Amino acid sequence: MSIFSEKLGKIAQENESRIVLALDLSLSSKEKDFKKKLLEKAQKVLNDVRDHVAGIKINFQLLLPLGLFDELRFLIQTTTSYGIPLIMDCKLNDVEHTNEWTARHIFDAGFGALIANPFVGFRGGLDSVFSVAEEYGGGVILLVYMSHSGADEGYGQRVIYENDFRWQYEVFAEKAKSWGAEGVVVGATQPKIIERVSQILDGKIPIFSPGIGFQGGLISEAFRAGTSYAIVGRTIYQSENPKKSAKEIKDKINEVIR
Ligand code: XMP
Repeated sequence: MSIFSEKLGKIAQENESRIVLALDLSLSSKEKDFKKKLLEKAQKVLNDVRDHVAGIKINFQLLLPLGLFDELRFLIQTTTSYGIPLIMDCKLNDVEHTNEWTARHIFDAGFGALIANPFVGFRGGLDSVFSVAEEYGGGVILLVYMSHSGADEGYGQRVIYENDFRWQYEVFAEKAKSWGAEGVVVGATQPKIIERVSQILDGKIPIFSPGIGFQGGLISEAFRAGTSYAIVGRTIYQSENPKKSAKEIKDKINEVIR
């Protein structure tokens, strides 16, 4: 188990929370002092919800304007000072040497895990990411089935794999096990697929499910099907009271999993 997974499990237990907050705050770069304002907004939400989440996921909305080693570093410092693990949602999908440097920068900056896309393959693709992750005690989380409606065009295709007709997501779930992933992403909008992936993973790898709330996924269906962590963004950070929303979602999840 990676240091990332240990930390995630520890904070999940301490905070009794299976929420990974998608901190996707956004602001136009045309606005005056947008970097400062964006950072302040993000820090505020983080401080509000810190006792009700197990992890924080950062996406391009913050990474691009704030920069990995610039303003974003303050947010990374605050999050890690609370002991909360950070996931970079870069859906990494390139060739070996580019992937290697992307992963190195991300782990050097203080992230515990990154999300990668298995479509690119292992040899000459994600192999370097898994090696770098191991070096840092970090985790690689693989996309297995995304939460948006067009996910069936890729992850939901019927494919011929090792002379057999299979679903693409089943093959990816098997690869997650053999490649040593520390998590997989399956959209909360697809409880039947969560159930199937959960059978394949057999409790060995946690399932992270985005899509609860805004995208229509239900906590009860997702967690009963095998979701381990809910990735939640807008329902929390756009609410009038993010702390209250995070607590409500956390309690709802705990009602289902107890
Ligand atoms: P909301 O606001 O819809 O945010 O709660 C969801 C967050 O999750 C990301 N997202 C995904 N990430 N696989 C991923 O790795 C997915 O299938 C997926 N669907 C949504 C989204 O970018 C946002 O940060």
